Amino acid sequence: MTTLAFPPVSDLANPFLAAPKPPTVAPEVAAAVTQGLLSHPKTLPAWLFYDEAGSRLFDKITALPEYYLTRTERAIFLEFAGEIIERAAEGHALQMIELGAGSCEKTRILLAAAAERQDTVLYEPVDVSAAPLEAARERIEREISGVLVAPRVADYVRDLAHEAPLSGERRLVLYIGSSIGNFEPCAARELLMKIRATLAPGDALLLGVDLVKDRMLLHAAYNDASGVTEAFNRNLLHRLNRELGANFKPGLFAHRAVWNAAESRVEMHLESRLRQMVSISGIDALMEFEAGETIHTENSYKYHPGEAESMLQAAGFAPAQTWTDARGWFAVALGRAA
Ligand code: AVI
Repeated sequence: MTTLAFPPVSDLANPFLAAPKPPTVAPEVAAAVTQGLLSHPKTLPAWLFYDEAGSRLFDKITALPEYYLTRTERAIFLEFAGEIIERAAEGHALQMIELGAGSCEKTRILLAAAAERQDTVLYEPVDVSAAPLEAARERIEREISGVLVAPRVADYVRDLAHEAPLSGERRLVLYIGSSIGNFEPCAARELLMKIRATLAPGDALLLGVDLVKDRMLLHAAYNDASGVTEAFNRNLLHRLNRELGANFKPGLFAHRAVWNAAESRVEMHLESRLRQMVSISGIDALMEFEAGETIHTENSYKYHPGEAESMLQAAGFAPAQTWTDARGWFAVALGRAA
C-alpha cells in the first residue's frame, strides 16, 4: 500500500474506511490514476471523464446556454458546409473519417453536403464507445441517403488506422469540437503529425478550434449556472469509486474552472474543501489531501487567430482555408496533406 503522509487522526474528514476491492481494475485506468495522484500537484488525465455517465454529462454540456462552442461550430458548418466540402475535395470524391465522433451530431451537416456532390460517401466515425456510434450509424443511414457509415471502436490517440480509400478518392479527416484543445501543445503537435502520417498528399484535415475571447464568456462556459460542468468534473471521483474501489466523497471536492491567460487555457480542478484521507483499494493507495489542494483535471486551450494554421503547418499540412463565425469565437481550419 502506498501511504502518503499520515495526518493526525483527529483532523480527518473521512478517515480511511477501506472500501472493498473492485472486481476488475482496468490496467490503463489504474496506471493513469496512480501516476496522476502521486504527482505534485495532483492531476488526472481528461480522457477519464468519458465513461458512460461522463459522456452523457458531456452531451448535456454541449446544449447548455453558456457553452457556446458546439453551437458556434455548428453555425459555421450550417453556413459553409458546401464550401468546406468543395475545398476539401478539389474535384475528387471524398471519404470522410471523424476522430472522437461521439454522436456525430454536427457532422451530419457536412455529410449531407458531401452526399449532394457524390453518389456514395463512405463515413468512418471513430470513438471509444460503441453505443453512440451504432445509434449514429442507424440515424445517418436513415436520414442522409448516399452515406454509408462504417463505425470503428478505437482510441484514436493510440490506434489511427483508417479504411483504405477507393481509387481516386481523397480522404477528409475531421477533428472538430475543439478536442485538440484538451491536449498539451506538444501532444497536440504529435497527434496532428500522427494523423498526417496516415494520409496521402492531397488528403485533408479539418480542425475545429476554440478562440481566445472575453474572459467572462470563457468563465461562464465552464461554470454553468445549472451545475452540469460541476457534475461532469466530479463524475471523475464517482468513476474512481466505482472502478477502483476508492472512497472519495465527491461533495468534499469543489469544482473550480479558471481562465489562465498566461497559458491561454481554461483549467478545471477539483479542490479539496478540507484536509482529508482517501483510500483507493484498487491501486492499494491511501492519499492525503490538504484543505485547498487541487486535482488538476483538464486544460482546454483557446487559440489566437492564425494559431490553428500554424499547428497544421508544423504537422505537415498546408493551410488551405479557415472559416469562422461572425463574432470570431470559433475557427474551423482546413489543412491539406503536403
Ligand atoms: C471535449 N472538450 C473539447 C470539452 C472542452 O470544452 O474542453 C470538454 C469540456 N470540459 C468542460 N466542459 C467541456
